[in-house]
Amino acid sequence: MTRDKYNKEFQSFLEAVFKQDGVEGLANNLPFVDGALVITVDGNIVAANDAFLDLVCYQQSELYGQSIQKLIYQKDQQDVEKRIREKNQTNYHARLFTKDSTVKFVSVFPSIYEIDGVTYRLTACFDNTPVINLQKYQLNEFKKLARTLTNILEKRDSYTTGHMARTAAITVEIAKEMSLDKATIDTLWIGASIHDIGKISVPIEILTKPDKLNNFEWGFIKSHPTTGFEIVAEVDFNETIKQIILHHHESHDGSGYPDGTMGANIPLEVAIVSVADSLEAISGVRPYRKAFSFEEAIDIMNNQTGKYHNEVLKAASSLVKNGNLKGQEFGLLH
Ligand SMILES: [Fe+2]
Ligand SMILES: [Fe+2]
Repeated sequence: MTRDKYNKEFQSFLEAVFKQDGVEGLANNLPFVDGALVITVDGNIVAANDAFLDLVCYQQSELYGQSIQKLIYQKDQQDVEKRIREKNQTNYHARLFTKDSTVKFVSVFPSIYEIDGVTYRLTACFDNTPVINLQKYQLNEFKKLARTLTNILEKRDSYTTGHMARTAAITVEIAKEMSLDKATIDTLWIGASIHDIGKISVPIEILTKPDKLNNFEWGFIKSHPTTGFEIVAEVDFNETIKQIILHHHESHDGSGYPDGTMGANIPLEVAIVSVADSLEAISGVRPYRKAFSFEEAIDIMNNQTGKYHNEVLKAASSLVKNGNLKGQEFGLLH
């Protein structure tokens, strides 16, 4: 059945329902949803089925005649108001406030019907709250796991732990400068916070050696991305976090390690951590040299033509040049 034909048949069905049971009938004839309500073009609630009342914990008498905005989470109000005003029938996500001020995450499926010369907006809702809560719980657990891994490393090597925390802070700033979404920033934070976790297998004498490293010692250092990847292999971290650990020493021009991956084959998230990692490392104090300022560090990186992802380096440069990346906030000595 075509969508038009289906809509026409559904329209006739709703008209019949309306004739018999009025707007109440409209709300109550949408089975298989977590809530249905009918509002006017002004956004006033004229009917809601029992499932919807249960979802938002209100009595019928407390909602009927009220504006739908009473139920909408503040940050979503403008968007919902616009959709109603423009008679927009596309599906969307919104957050609802229940009577006891908990937030419900819903998918909304609106449709508009003219019945007896009056326009009604019939809205079906599906409750995504359990899934969203589970995702939040899982994200929290992953963040705790990242902290646990760094706590283990800190018992032996507090320098690397501090470096990872500062790299994570810089990573988040670059991601915000690039207007990336919150889910990506959460992933970046976890990945950057543990990107050097593989250094747990590098002898501390090598990590803290004030002189130049010989080839044998370099071999140890270069094994840390692979070791880190192996450490988290069994964890259900998303793939991006694992790629950050494995590939944060790859270079845009293919001169990095462990695989010599290059250009567009390096995911953007990995490229961001890579730039933040270098910026932190160059601007940090080392046993064999003084610390550079962020300005000096970014100049050094800009002179290493082709090594870093262009857009990411640009974002980091503008953060530094505009004074929006301040060493003190990240515990650096500037
Ligand atoms: Fe590293
Ligand atoms: Fe690092």
